[in-house]
Amino acid sequence: MAKRKITLFLYTLILSLSVVSLAVAVRLTPVLQTQEKLSIKRPTFNQIFDTSKYGILQLNNGLAQTPQMGWNSWNFFACNIDETVIKETADALISTGLADLGYVYVNIDDCWCPTRNFEGQLVPDPIAFPSGIKALADYIHGKGLKLGIYSDAGAFTCQVRPGSLYHESDDAKLFASWGVDYLKYDNCYNLGIPPKERYPPMREALNVSGRTIFYSICEWGVDDPALWAGKLGNSWRTTDDINDSWASMTAIADLNDKWAAYAGPGGWNDPDMLEVGNGGMTYQEYRSHFSIWALMKAPLLIGCDVRNMTAETFEIVSNEEVIAVNQDPLGVQGRKVNVSGPDGCYQVWAGPLSGDRWAVVLWNRCSKANTITATWEALGLKSGVSVSVRDLWQHKEVAVDAVSSFGAQVDAHDCRMYMFTPHTTSLRNIA
Ligand code: GLA
Repeated sequence: MAKRKITLFLYTLILSLSVVSLAVAVRLTPVLQTQEKLSIKRPTFNQIFDTSKYGILQLNNGLAQTPQMGWNSWNFFACNIDETVIKETADALISTGLADLGYVYVNIDDCWCPTRNFEGQLVPDPIAFPSGIKALADYIHGKGLKLGIYSDAGAFTCQVRPGSLYHESDDAKLFASWGVDYLKYDNCYNLGIPPKERYPPMREALNVSGRTIFYSICEWGVDDPALWAGKLGNSWRTTDDINDSWASMTAIADLNDKWAAYAGPGGWNDPDMLEVGNGGMTYQEYRSHFSIWALMKAPLLIGCDVRNMTAETFEIVSNEEVIAVNQDPLGVQGRKVNVSGPDGCYQVWAGPLSGDRWAVVLWNRCSKANTITATWEALGLKSGVSVSVRDLWQHKEVAVDAVSSFGAQVDAHDCRMYMFTPHTTSLRNIA
């Protein structure tokens, strides 16, 4: 009997202790989780700027060590192109000084070629390009520039001109014989064949064409090309076509941001060509567009009529300090590192540069001016590091020893772009 009583007592004791410890655990867990968030989980540099895929995929044809720069006919001219426009654009790139800043590719987009001849060769439009592409390439090369052309990994181009699918070898040889330096290869009328089957044949054909030709894959991000196109091309479109609006530009920036870890020297994410100067956005919006494209290591392909640029357009696309961020030899794509405010529209975008420097963009995507602050934590900088801050649009130093954070007032839809130069080494909060 006494034994039974003792057993019963022990059972009751164990049960009560279990209930009490469960209650304590339920109360404590959230507290511990909060503590963990507050004190332990400070993101490291490597977590913020994941570069684990950097350089492992890139096509090794020696090109695209930095993102390509130049001009493309599509965004402004669409099909209204001819050899005069192309030559005058080349002249304007030289006379404005843009070529000296790095804008060297003069790229003809769709509509240059209405047909193939009886031998199956692509024939340039005889009315628009009466002198032929070889003559145009000679002209462009004579100015120290490079010529780009366009075709499609399908039966037709998007404007229903002949495509290069199953003509890869002949077309690549023809482009090489003309002296073409760059091929944009589009994705229309692809007969439902997966891109991973349609894009490699043209790479092979270019490789044996006898000419080193930049390979710009334009697959619109349909099959996540960042994951595979680095072995094939020097850049790959990550999104559908841009249009000349704030909504399109911001949406595309966000889509391209997702693939930041995959870009590097030899192969770049391509969020499509610039719309700066085409009239659909304000000066502030275009400045944001250019700053973010530069930071994201996007190709800088001007898409306006460079023969008739306004002073504002020229000021934006000729900003040498912003271009230097894009062309920085470290080649790490900058990315969105912090958002706050309504719908996350106060944003901090940043990326590491060579020489242990940082490029930082404070981007106000809200409709009212506001202060936006970059914290060292968001940038992956050690908290005590002192930084000098240079404004890349005002072209002056704005702080000599910022510590732990730096903020500024930013107008609606505008951005501020900075170069941060820390005063000390061992500045990264590394994993
Ligand atoms: C597609 C491409 C554009 C442009 C047009 C031309 O839409 O994505 O960049 O080349 O075709 O037709």
